[in-house]
Amino acid sequence: MTKSNTTPKASITAIGGYVPEDRLTNKDLELLVDTNDDWIQSRTGIRERRILKDPKKATSFLAIQASKNLIKKNNIDPSTIDMVIVATTTPDMQIAATAAYVASEIGSKNAFGYDLQAACSGFLYAMSMAAGKIESGRYKKVLVIGADKMSSIIDYKDRSTCILFGDGAGAVLFEPNNQGLGWQDEYFRSNGTQRETLCVKAGGSLFPASSTTILNEDHYLRQDGRNIYKSAVSAMTESSNIILERNNITGEEVDYLLAHQANERIIEAVSKKMKLNSNKVLKNIANYGNTTAATIPLLLYDFQNLFKKGDKIIFAAFGGGYTWGAAYYKWSKLIN
Ligand code: ACO
Repeated sequence: MTKSNTTPKASITAIGGYVPEDRLTNKDLELLVDTNDDWIQSRTGIRERRILKDPKKATSFLAIQASKNLIKKNNIDPSTIDMVIVATTTPDMQIAATAAYVASEIGSKNAFGYDLQAACSGFLYAMSMAAGKIESGRYKKVLVIGADKMSSIIDYKDRSTCILFGDGAGAVLFEPNNQGLGWQDEYFRSNGTQRETLCVKAGGSLFPASSTTILNEDHYLRQDGRNIYKSAVSAMTESSNIILERNNITGEEVDYLLAHQANERIIEAVSKKMKLNSNKVLKNIANYGNTTAATIPLLLYDFQNLFKKGDKIIFAAFGGGYTWGAAYYKWSKLIN
């Protein structure tokens, strides 16, 4: 349904980010599993990841740090935030939404909060939820956080997964924009027949945690890397190209591609198929690895000074479920 011209767009007005101090380098991993720096860099583009080592600190800690960074830098009164969405695959606990805790801890006492779980597509989907709330006119400030403590579900004996993931968080604030800037369009899909290709098998209602699931080490993330690789390239390319076509944008007219950072080769394959110059393709995977829901907000955080008003940005993501999609965003000014 087409919206009237008076409908505001949802635009990002503030950005925050946080990664833990501790680094897990490829050299460190050589001591844990049979791998080497050359293999990891050439197959994934990753040099190091950040790890939240303190066992008492969880995903909420990362989310709170990123949010406080956003609030402080932009001088925002947290009590004016209406809604907090935390995209995460590693919530602090079952049932109690991490977002509710984060909202309380940052002083957003007038907000409601919930978690959104769509693995590596989580932040993309959460931005869409925020955009819908802003466009409805009922909410003025929606905080969207992507945060994951991936180290809490990684088996550091499994070389096919432990080299890929890191911990981190990023946060953005969405507000109404009456100049037509912000969230423009989205194309999202999912395919549940592939759910076992990438999952943590135990701990849900299908395989509740038990001594057997622990013994089988089913509480760790497992994946079929090759299948994911191929599916990620084709799904992100297809959805990005649909978004370009639907909005009459050529690859040359795109200013930046912000794609989920899973593997440098996946990002390069997608951008090649979209016919984008490499200088338009933003990457920070070398420093953080795959932080799941945090990759896209951490890209926004790291590269925020690059963006100019009106820049045409394509977001793309693919993740467990399978879930995937792309979105078209026109940059507006940040608060500062
Ligand atoms: N170090 C050294 N050798 C390794 C390692 C390692 N860390 N891991 C696997 N190998 C070996 C394999 O055992 C295999 O050996 P073999 O030929 O003797 O059997 C060989 O390397 C090739 O293995 P492949 O799995 O075919 O390697 P591939 O080139 O596909 O790279 C990788 C593996 C990096 C996991 C890649 O498939 C990938 O990135 N897939 C996407 C996975 C992903 O991103 N998951 C994250 C969540 S989903 C998302 O975010 C999109």
